[in-house]
Amino acid sequence: MTELKTLFTPQKIGSVEIKNRIVRSATFEHRAEKYGYVGQKILDFYSELALGGTGLIITGFTAIDPSGTGSPYQLRLDNDSYIPGHKKLVYMVHNQSDAKLAIQIVHLGRQCEHPKYPPIAPSPIPEKTTGLTPKELSVEEIYELVKKFKETSIRAYECGYDMVQLHASHGYLLSNFVSPYTNKRKDEFGGSIKNMARILVEIFHQTRDELGKKFPITIKLQTEDSVPGGLTLETSSKIAEILAETGYEAIEPSGGIYESQLTNSNTYPCKIVKSTEDENYFLPTAKVIKPLIKKSKLILVGGIKNPVSAEKILINKHADFISLCRPLIYEPDLPNRWKSGDISPAKCISCNSCLVQMRIGPVYCVTKQNLEKKKQN
Ligand SMILES: Cc1cc2nc3c(=O)[nH]c(=O)nc-3n(C[C@H](O)[C@H](O)[C@H](O)COP(=O)(O)O)c2cc1C
Repeated sequence: MTELKTLFTPQKIGSVEIKNRIVRSATFEHRAEKYGYVGQKILDFYSELALGGTGLIITGFTAIDPSGTGSPYQLRLDNDSYIPGHKKLVYMVHNQSDAKLAIQIVHLGRQCEHPKYPPIAPSPIPEKTTGLTPKELSVEEIYELVKKFKETSIRAYECGYDMVQLHASHGYLLSNFVSPYTNKRKDEFGGSIKNMARILVEIFHQTRDELGKKFPITIKLQTEDSVPGGLTLETSSKIAEILAETGYEAIEPSGGIYESQLTNSNTYPCKIVKSTEDENYFLPTAKVIKPLIKKSKLILVGGIKNPVSAEKILINKHADFISLCRPLIYEPDLPNRWKSGDISPAKCISCNSCLVQMRIGPVYCVTKQNLEKKKQN
């Protein structure tokens, strides 16, 4: 029988030990109570994941400010009224399992379509899917946002989260800074690669100064925009190097923005995977970034379904962790299944029915539900 030895060997992110190499990639649950509070629907969803054997669970994107939300049912932690709910969530996960819990924090930036707040971005480049032009941020406003990311991280620490992940991918605010497509600034936050990375470096230092080394700071990093004139790996690999030198304890490379879909319906971050050749689609990216980020851990996401090939990726040191989103929507207990010796690939067919569902209500696998209905009839 094939052994999945490395997949089930503990590994650290900063000072935090994760029991295995399986990460639940951030997944918008669409299950918070109205205005972003943790309620029973969120608790039930995370309980299933915690009991399913995942080593590190990353929450769905959680807002640092009301102006940066994408839905009233998205988690928030932008003020202290959210702390009791998050404390309950963290307590439940830690009490039910030995899984670690990270919070992903976000501002939707250029892609925000809030009825009350205009979208914001480093530069006022019109967004073609929303039809809105974001307001260009002043330097003072950028530092205000840096403070908000820091303050949300402090609240997360107070709630007992094991670490934080900044969402700097998928065309949201932080990724807008690292992309030449959305950042045309000529001041300290634009122009050179160092300036484009500055907001991420600032957030890191301000948060680290407050919370110290025991609370790892990690990042989901945009590596490719997949639009003409957008960010490419040549630049993003240099940004990853800067972030690792700064001290980010883990980097999860990803890519794609809303506008990528306009020219290619099957693009990042959620590619439809039709064959084994389509799997592990950020592996070529990881191979470029991993040697550059030295002490930082690389979390590989994107179309990972086969535990044998995941084991190989880990053995070959192309990544330190593998990260799953859609497969865990279908099978929240997938890590336990693999650990028990049933090493058949994830049942998820990466069809994106969950992604379509997530836009209208609580996320679940529509394909799985249809299959179950058929069986019953
Ligand atoms: C329903 C759904 C919700 C998602 N929500 C988030 C999110 O909140 N934050 C994030 O960084 N990525 C989000 N993603 C992207 C995933 O984290 C992941 O990068 C992508 O699905 C590729 O991984 P997979 O092939 O294992 O699904 C979401 C994807 C799906 C399908």
